[in-house]
Amino acid sequence: QTIYLKDYAPPTWLVDTVDLDIAINDGFALVSARLAMRRNPDAAAGALLLDGEDLHLESIRIDGRPLGADEYAYSGDKLTITSVPDDFVLETVVRIEPDKNTQLSGLYRSKDGYFTQCEAQGFRRITFYPDRPDVMARFTCTLHADKSRFPVLLSNGNPVAQGDEDGGRHWAKWQDPFAKPAYLFACVAAKLEVVEDTYVTTSGRRVRCAVYVEPGKLDQCAHALAALKLSMKWDEDVFGLEMDLEHYMIVAVGDFNMGAMENKGLNIFNTKFVLARPDTATDTDYQNIDRVVAHEYFHNWTGNRVTCRDWFQLSLKEGLTVFRDQNFGMDVHSAGVTRIQEVRTLRAAQYPEDAGPMAHPIRPASYAEINNFYTATVYEKGAEVIRMIHTLIGKDAFRKGMDLYFARHDGQAVTCEDFVAAMQDASGLNLDQFQRWYNQAGTPKLIVRSSYDAAGKRYTLDVEQQYPATPYEERMTAEGNGIARGPYYMPLVLGLLDAKGNELPLRLAGEERVQGTQCTLSIRKDKQRFVFADVDAEPVPSLLRGFSAPVVLDYPYSNDELTHLMAFDSDAVNRWEAAQRLATGILLKGIAAPSVPADTWIPESYVEAMRRLLASAFTADGDPALVAEALVLPAETYLAEQMEVVEPDAIHLARLALRQHLAQALREPLLKAYHDLKVDRPYSPDSEQAGKRALRNVCLSYLAELGDEASHALVLAHYEQAANMTDTMAALAALANLDVPARHSVLDAFYARWKGEALVVDKWLQVQSTSRLPNTGSDVRALMAHEAFDIRNPNKVYALVRAFCAANPKHFHAADGSGYKLAADVILQLDPLNPQVASRIARTFDRWKKFDPARQAKAREQLERIKAQVGLSSDVAEVVGKALD
Ligand code: ARG
Ligand code: ZN
Repeated sequence: QTIYLKDYAPPTWLVDTVDLDIAINDGFALVSARLAMRRNPDAAAGALLLDGEDLHLESIRIDGRPLGADEYAYSGDKLTITSVPDDFVLETVVRIEPDKNTQLSGLYRSKDGYFTQCEAQGFRRITFYPDRPDVMARFTCTLHADKSRFPVLLSNGNPVAQGDEDGGRHWAKWQDPFAKPAYLFACVAAKLEVVEDTYVTTSGRRVRCAVYVEPGKLDQCAHALAALKLSMKWDEDVFGLEMDLEHYMIVAVGDFNMGAMENKGLNIFNTKFVLARPDTATDTDYQNIDRVVAHEYFHNWTGNRVTCRDWFQLSLKEGLTVFRDQNFGMDVHSAGVTRIQEVRTLRAAQYPEDAGPMAHPIRPASYAEINNFYTATVYEKGAEVIRMIHTLIGKDAFRKGMDLYFARHDGQAVTCEDFVAAMQDASGLNLDQFQRWYNQAGTPKLIVRSSYDAAGKRYTLDVEQQYPATPYEERMTAEGNGIARGPYYMPLVLGLLDAKGNELPLRLAGEERVQGTQCTLSIRKDKQRFVFADVDAEPVPSLLRGFSAPVVLDYPYSNDELTHLMAFDSDAVNRWEAAQRLATGILLKGIAAPSVPADTWIPESYVEAMRRLLASAFTADGDPALVAEALVLPAETYLAEQMEVVEPDAIHLARLALRQHLAQALREPLLKAYHDLKVDRPYSPDSEQAGKRALRNVCLSYLAELGDEASHALVLAHYEQAANMTDTMAALAALANLDVPARHSVLDAFYARWKGEALVVDKWLQVQSTSRLPNTGSDVRALMAHEAFDIRNPNKVYALVRAFCAANPKHFHAADGSGYKLAADVILQLDPLNPQVASRIARTFDRWKKFDPARQAKAREQLERIKAQVGLSSDVAEVVGKALD
């Protein structure tokens, strides 16, 4: 059933304190909870309703008195107690079975330890509770377990007592001084090793920073620990926000549905975002660790100290925290490259979501299953919306707005409007119209046309925005919950380049002020005109600099203008964007003419532009990392989004032909760059070294397209000589696409060497599932039966199955429907075990209606098959239901 934002009502009952006692035994755990509760004076009257899922009630008392069987009822998801005083203590004892918890929500077993995941609604799987974020309470938690098997017992806050018990058991009690919603509760009982460090805050608090990992992995923790300290410093420097506890712990676990979780003082992380050693992790892994560690740390203020009133407000904490971790990334790595990577992810993941059956605004007004809304829209588009506020009001006002937000709402559970109000009040800029970003779904299109008046030296930009309704709005309207859509308020950042590549000073006609060489236009209406004065000759516009708004920009650039921007634009994002547009235009021509030889649709000028691009990496101010980004052609999935009817085979062939053509034409400079970029110093993941490796490995991947003996030898030599996982994986990924005898022996040897490192095995699975070789579909099926695969481990499913569906369009969309069948088989097998992960696989069907009728029929067949499954989870049912609608 669907839940609506408009039905929000404050909680009838509040919880002041929670005392949990969790005894872990063989095969079960006993959870005793003591809740001090009272009636909410600001809410309507009503019975006491508590959430509870998969709980076995053993006893229940109110103010010490056991309840009779007629005084309460448990329906399987709600416990109702009809008559309670206004103020009381509720004591329950429940039995749960963490070993059988394959959903990985609530308390679950992973290998030999016990871990929790409570966001969004996992706490109700541990004990009876009003499990909603606007109920905030102070928690204590006492854990009991076998001492030798589970020597480490952790929960939120501070350790207050511990001791031994009969039967070789022990216990530990933790107390969290801050009131928090139940979704931020965590506990761990496991055999773990720890590395520690101390961080001293500006106001002098000594914080013990600890990273806990399974035994034998201590040599893979240093980077995460360093990233944590960097994040603490950054949040103090940039936002004046300090750590508020004495203990900040990160625990890594191999079975985890998502990336990580910001539980107060006790973050639980997917091992993927903690463990790294030069020989096991790539440069990208290192950067992801920085970002996820920072993200979870930043949640301590944006999420924990100020939390969400209800789950519709998820972007309040996620959009803002992603924005913060993005800025951290821009500060600790290259700003331009970081921003480019974000834009690419946004367009690869969020734009298709906005254009598909699951489209929703960053604050949806309804949902069936909240776990389906931890999306690219809520996270990444949510961050873009915060970024636009930052651009519109400026850095200083943004900081004032943050200060005001905390001054007003520390310790509260609030809404997106509260955040925008703080920004509006701190800046004085009216943001009423801006709120549409929170309520309207879909990617707006910004159509820009220019004209030049040589006599008047005037340059005119006509800007129009389009924002057609999505299936989300159609559904809302059909239900009588429609909203009146209107134009967005957004910043359009731009510059103008003259024929020599110089940036022009900008003055709007009728204004005195010259704005420098870059200005921010306020877009508010459906159509607007901007006229620039004193423009001596027709310029090339550099529009939407820094990707200033999450829109599709429509401007009729010529190839010459794009090569001009590639060479001269001062904005890194737009230099990259020009290369992407140029390649996209050429590829779309090639895709439309599949049987025509490649050199007829690949202009020589393009090859020359790419040659100059490569050479620019070696100039004094050249940036290899940026050049690497610009040399990579738009992904097949991105190209698919640009087409009316997707032709996956034609896309694949055209992109491959262009890669081969570039490899042939630029063979010499690619080889030279490959040799010149070799890093001889000991490995470090810093941006300079990583940038060189990135470009060198892009060169390698082009050279591997030559298809001759020499190029195969180069790939193998790269593999043999690799001194770190970044280089190893670059070679392995290239080799996985080559039909050469060495492919098998290298893949086998790689597995033999790394089968003890789960995260490296994931990489091994993923290079195979994303291979373009013809047998990939059947290889994936075979790998599902391999000892390396485990359908219960989310990372394995993501590496083998999700990567196949999401990153291997040629095979997932195989004309015979075999890719769709594979995905459906996995979804059906996984749904009873782990609906969240099954649902994530189901999302790869989102764009099925963009394909030809024959493929649509095959996809529909599988979607119907999934839908017909008895007992399907609400997670998968919502995704499949909306896809078929
Ligand atoms: N709040 C976490 C983060 O973004 C994500 C938790 C998602 N959990 C879930 N069950 N959907 O950092
Ligand atoms: Zn988050």
